[in-house]
Amino acid sequence: MADGDEYREFATKAVHSGMIEVNGSATTPIFRTSTYKLTDEKYQGWAEGLHHTVVYSRISSINSEVVSAKLAAMEGAEDAEVFSSGMAAISTTLMTFLSKGDHIIATNDCYGGTYGLLTEVLPRFGIEVTMADVRDPESYRKAIQKNTKVLYVETMTNPTLKVCDLESMAKVAKDNNLVSIVDNTFTSPWSCKPISMGFDIVLHSGTKYLGGHADLTAGFAAGRKELIEQVFHNKIYFGGAADPEMCYLLERGMRTLHARMPIHARNSAEIAKRLSTHDMVDKVIHPSLTDHPDHKIAKKVMPRGSGMLSFIIKGGDQSALKFMRSLKIIFEATSLGGVESLVECPFNSSHMFVPEEVRNEAGVMPGFVRMSIGIEDIEDLWSDIEAGLKSAEQMMVEMT
Ligand SMILES: Cc1ncc(COP(=O)(O)O)c(C=O)c1O
Repeated sequence: MADGDEYREFATKAVHSGMIEVNGSATTPIFRTSTYKLTDEKYQGWAEGLHHTVVYSRISSINSEVVSAKLAAMEGAEDAEVFSSGMAAISTTLMTFLSKGDHIIATNDCYGGTYGLLTEVLPRFGIEVTMADVRDPESYRKAIQKNTKVLYVETMTNPTLKVCDLESMAKVAKDNNLVSIVDNTFTSPWSCKPISMGFDIVLHSGTKYLGGHADLTAGFAAGRKELIEQVFHNKIYFGGAADPEMCYLLERGMRTLHARMPIHARNSAEIAKRLSTHDMVDKVIHPSLTDHPDHKIAKKVMPRGSGMLSFIIKGGDQSALKFMRSLKIIFEATSLGGVESLVECPFNSSHMFVPEEVRNEAGVMPGFVRMSIGIEDIEDLWSDIEAGLKSAEQMMVEMT
């Protein structure tokens, strides 16, 4: 299929898939109910395992079914399940495929919440964790033990934007009978479809690009039906269900993913290009740049890009702080993937509790700035960034 055909198909799925029409409605209404009438059919569904049998909103609702079906269509997955947050999806999925005595291989570059779950929670339940290099599938292969059950990666890591060679990683998992799980939040299914590259399960924080408007928290797990049924079974016990009203907003956001993502990708690539020739910038990290170590892999894994961008400003963390606090349009906040551009400095946010030498070793050098580039006008964004860089430069001059 030509890329153009695939794009058209994705766009139509994004708008229409999953939607439930009620009395001729053009959108799925919000089903503001905690419980549903029980019928013989529902009792039977319940008896057979309940998945996709809507009986009680702590488990699933009409609205949650709609967004689950839409995500499955977007990812090219047989099935999907929505959760109240990305962390609910991640924790429920990991607790589904890991038991006492099992072993998981993951990357220490992963999202902080996932890192905490892996290092603080799983070991308390007798689950062993080994960290490997997300850029090096062989490091995962070498870490495999007799009791290894799960291989865990992220498509693109935060905040150093390393890109995983998903096809090679999936092969490591397949060769060794492991469940392969990838967090695809940073790229979204518009840019990267891990199931087509051999992954078993794709996870998302729906809070980011899928929702797209910084007005909800959500999560997803997608994959083969038999696997998602197992995840669903544990969702009943862990209770991380997605509220119907939130699912309504999420459905609305997902319908425009394909319209928003090209602007995120175009804006971030353009800003990366301009930053890379700016005197105040030491280094720009963006997979579209040819000096990014994963430039070639990124073209294969996430060919349409994403809106994430990192750079290192001259003058260290104080300079980064001055830059960030001088911005007028770009908003200082954690999170990513919304229509509005956001900025944060890892040293006082995501990596606040990480010792400086550990930060530096991970590539989070003094002066590190991470931005989620939104869909505002590119020239307005650039003027804001240029003015911020000027303020940081002035501060440096005054200090010398
Ligand atoms: C890559 C990634 N995965 C998972 C999460 C967790 O998602 P949530 O905040 O929706 O629980 C985040 C949150 O920032 C994230 O960046």
